[in-house]
Amino acid sequence: MFEPYQRGTSIEEARRRSGMRHVIKLASNENPLGTSPKALAAMRSLESLNVYVDDTYLDLKEKLAARHGLRAENVVLGHGSNEIVRLVADAFLEPGDEMVMAVPTFALYRLAAAIRGARAIEVPLRDGVTDLGAMLVAVSDRTRVAFVCEPNNPTGTGAGREAWKTFVEQLPARILLVVDQAYREYAPPDAVDAIEDVGLRPRTIVLRTTSKIYGLAALRFGYGFGDAESIGTLERVRLPFNVAAPALAGASAALDDDEFVRRSIAVNESGKALLSAQFAEMGLHAFATQANFYALAVPVSASHAYETLLRSGIIVRSGDALRMPGRIRVSIGTEEQNRALLAALQEMLTRWRT
Ligand SMILES: Cc1ncc(COP(=O)(O)O)c(C=O)c1O
Repeated sequence: MFEPYQRGTSIEEARRRSGMRHVIKLASNENPLGTSPKALAAMRSLESLNVYVDDTYLDLKEKLAARHGLRAENVVLGHGSNEIVRLVADAFLEPGDEMVMAVPTFALYRLAAAIRGARAIEVPLRDGVTDLGAMLVAVSDRTRVAFVCEPNNPTGTGAGREAWKTFVEQLPARILLVVDQAYREYAPPDAVDAIEDVGLRPRTIVLRTTSKIYGLAALRFGYGFGDAESIGTLERVRLPFNVAAPALAGASAALDDDEFVRRSIAVNESGKALLSAQFAEMGLHAFATQANFYALAVPVSASHAYETLLRSGIIVRSGDALRMPGRIRVSIGTEEQNRALLAALQEMLTRWRT
């Protein structure tokens, strides 16, 4: 059977387990500022839900396409970008096919391949960064899909434009390249922007989501860009009406909320400055991040660190569940949340050292 996807601990579960009312969730890389107010207002203004949505989703597709100089036929919408990961596997993988991906990376790719009876060929990171050169070497005659998470979850690292350019040039044209950029909005402007490759390399699909910077994880809306043929194939396997009316309204408004995005980036940047300095001060290694989380090395086992922090009311992810032993993944929060995390880490270290 398949290894199930392991979710982060919810606030409700953490309350039950820690006995604390006030818990801080830094486990699922959500937006600590809440939700785009424009998105909330748009969803509140819905008057009825009795009529099915326009299943072509043309208005929102055109809006998304126009932001990147593409056309509606280059856009697919999903119930979260997770759904599009599954659509890719459903549409492009057959039993016995191979899919090249990194390890550790977002676990859903592997699961989607396994459900189709395809084999994930997992290529270890190099110094915490996706090893694109080694991924090229791992390509075989059976490879149908290459899946890259950029910036990578759970490390937060970016591959860099130079390495990316070489990879895209050298990946055989017959292979579908899928790039999950769930965190791209947090990355610096000179980071890899795979949407630029969509017009240039056929068989390229780039996934984005409103779950992270737009603060809409519970709404379930994601989108993908690609060449018209690959997108057309995904359209054929998706369920009708896969995106609900509130998701359309909320996502469309959120995408226009530049002020919320700007604030979210600013809070993330100041969180990065505080946390990276303090982690270094504590002697804890963290990979340089281009996202809204850190993969932090801990001197105890990852699961022990997870449990200890949970008892302090802070939920993080244990690297043991993410194929990243010796590290925990912590989302960057508000300043107050970040300081609470630092205090709890300090307490854990003091106890460990004495
Ligand atoms: C790399 C990556 N892709 C996709 C997702 C989920 O996206 P969505 O909520 O749009 O399904 C996550 C969420 O944690 C993620 O880390």
